[in-house]
Amino acid sequence: MVQHLTDDERTTDGHAFDPDALTELVRDAEGLVEALRLAQDAIGWLPSEVLRQIALAREVPLARVHGVATFYASFFLEPRGRNILRVCRGTACHVGGADRLVEALAKHLRIGLGETTADLEFTLESAACLGCCSLAPVLASTEQTWGRLDGPSAVAVAARLGAAGERR
Ligand code: FES
Repeated sequence: MVQHLTDDERTTDGHAFDPDALTELVRDAEGLVEALRLAQDAIGWLPSEVLRQIALAREVPLARVHGVATFYASFFLEPRGRNILRVCRGTACHVGGADRLVEALAKHLRIGLGETTADLEFTLESAACLGCCSLAPVLASTEQTWGRLDGPSAVAVAARLGAAGERR
C-alpha cells in the first residue's frame, strides 16, 4: 500500500511537491532508474523527501532508492540552478585560460565550482573537453556554447542569462 508524506514532511528540504502527482508519475515507470529520471525531470533535482516518496510509491526500501540515486552522476541530490554554466577544463581550454573564467564567474556569482546560487539561478561546474577546442577557452550552458572568452566576457554572458531569467 502506498503511503503519502505529511504536510510537514513535504518541505523538509525547503522544496514543495505534490506527492500524489509524484506517486502517479513514478509508480509504473520501467524500473527505478527511470522512476528517478522522471522525478528529476519534473522537479529539477531529487530532494530527500522525493526519494522517500519514490520508495513508498514503488514499495522498495529507501536504501535501495538512495543507492541508485547516488550511483549515477546524472542524478542530483542538491538543488540545481536554472542555468548550468560549465567551464571547459580540457587541455586546450586550460592552456587558453579557463581558470580565469572560473575565477571571474565564481566572484561574480559568489559561489565556487560545483555550487548553486541561493536564488537557484546558476550552478557553476567544470567539464571535460566540450569538443570545440579551436574556440578555447569555452563556456557552455545546457543550450548554448560561447568561445574565446576571457573573465569579463564570461561574466557578461552570465549577466545576460541572469537578466533573461528576471524577465521570465
Ligand atoms: S579543451 Fe575545451 S573544448 Fe576541447
